[in-house]
Amino acid sequence: MRHRLALAPIGVAMLMTAAADGAAAQGLARGKYLVEQVGMCGDCHTPRDAKGQPIADRHLTGAPIGFRPLHPMPFAEHAPSLVGLPAHYTPAQFATFLETGKRPDGSMTLPPMPPYRFSKEDAWAVVDYLRSLK
Ligand code: HEC
Repeated sequence: MRHRLALAPIGVAMLMTAAADGAAAQGLARGKYLVEQVGMCGDCHTPRDAKGQPIADRHLTGAPIGFRPLHPMPFAEHAPSLVGLPAHYTPAQFATFLETGKRPDGSMTLPPMPPYRFSKEDAWAVVDYLRSLK
């Protein structure tokens, strides 16, 4: 009995670690889903081959925009790499960018980059997923 009681905290600690790992994996899966199926970040941020297909091993490494507006308007012709987060963002600044569309200096990005309004929870899931990419 004494042994069982002494080991109980270790068991609890192991369960907590397993739960934390599970939550982290769930967060990454949600971030991947939001990036690939909802935000469609790869449509602009992943380069394409000669046939117009996204190049799988260059997922989100930055790409030229393959279309132009019909009328003159502010427009960015290149989407930067998102792998591991762009260098001028802390994770918290990146989450704010996804919640508000505002960069760390308060400016907005040019079209066609959408000014997203992710919830805080979803923004952090995207941050964690992008940070996990090499
Ligand atoms: C329709 C095309 C398009 C889609 C979809 C898109 N982006 Fe972009 N993104 C751009 C372009 C173009 C720029 C460059 C904008 C500029 O220079 O002002 C950009 C810029 C950025 C930047 C750089 C901001 C900065 O400070 O310079 C980040 C970060 C970013 N996108 C994240 C994302 C994420 C995350 C997603 C998906 C949730 C996404 N983008 C989806 C086109 C796109």
